[in-house]
Amino acid sequence: MKGIILSGGSGTRLRPLTKITSKQLLPVYHRPMIYYPLNTLIKAGIKEILIIVAPERAGDYLNLLGSGKEFGVKLTYEIQDKPEGLAQAFIIGENFIDEDDVVMILGDNIFEDDFSEEIKNFQGGAKVFAKKVPDPERFGVVKFNEQMKAEKIVEKPEEYLSNYAVTGLYVYDHRVVEVAKTIKASPRGELEITDVNNWFLERGELEVAEVKGEWLDAGTFDSLLEAQNFAKEKMVDKMII
Ligand code: DAU
Repeated sequence: MKGIILSGGSGTRLRPLTKITSKQLLPVYHRPMIYYPLNTLIKAGIKEILIIVAPERAGDYLNLLGSGKEFGVKLTYEIQDKPEGLAQAFIIGENFIDEDDVVMILGDNIFEDDFSEEIKNFQGGAKVFAKKVPDPERFGVVKFNEQMKAEKIVEKPEEYLSNYAVTGLYVYDHRVVEVAKTIKASPRGELEITDVNNWFLERGELEVAEVKGEWLDAGTFDSLLEAQNFAKEKMVDKMII
């Protein structure tokens, strides 16, 4: 199993904090934000990790994280020229993924859970992690049928489908690269991870697990503030880096 941290984008919602640095390098209590997803992958036993960054920030990431030797893992870097969607990560990461399974985590997502078992037990296909939230319209949302089986995933639905948001941690087998190449850009001009997930779901190969602990994405002023307090209260003793 290889790991990808998607840490590009321009962080426009956090301007001017992100005018001279990347959102995922901003402090979240005692660590830069990206340490949290990196910690999640390292704790899950992932040894080879690709970090995808925006071109103008690549040097900062290299200065901060280097080769990964300090953390006992191998870090490599790729550039995403423009933020053209989460699923583009698998096209950028094609050579890195090769024939292996891959877990992708978003650089601004902070998870309390330990995913070691879920990742170790992965049997192919795709696996996503959903969490009950009060504001599902901000996320990819899982629609369930009467048997509570996932029926489809809808990106930022206008109508209520359920309270289960798809979080920013995804596991796939190597076919994800070819799937990412076949999907078309959405009206917002992005290759949507939701389309990748629906490709696997339609073939009966997508598993939806539930996130038990807290999860937040630190992409807005309020969620960044929330993340600081959450990190102080709950994450300090969960960090191994
Ligand atoms: O946080 C989970 C949600 O992430 C999922 O529920 C959605 O299904 C998924 O589409 C995504 O939604 P967002 O609209 O919140 O994604 P956003 O554009 O904010 O990007 C998430 C992170 O990924 C952000 O830290 C920037 C980075 N990113 C984003 C894009 C589009 C990149 O590095 N490259 C990109 O091309």
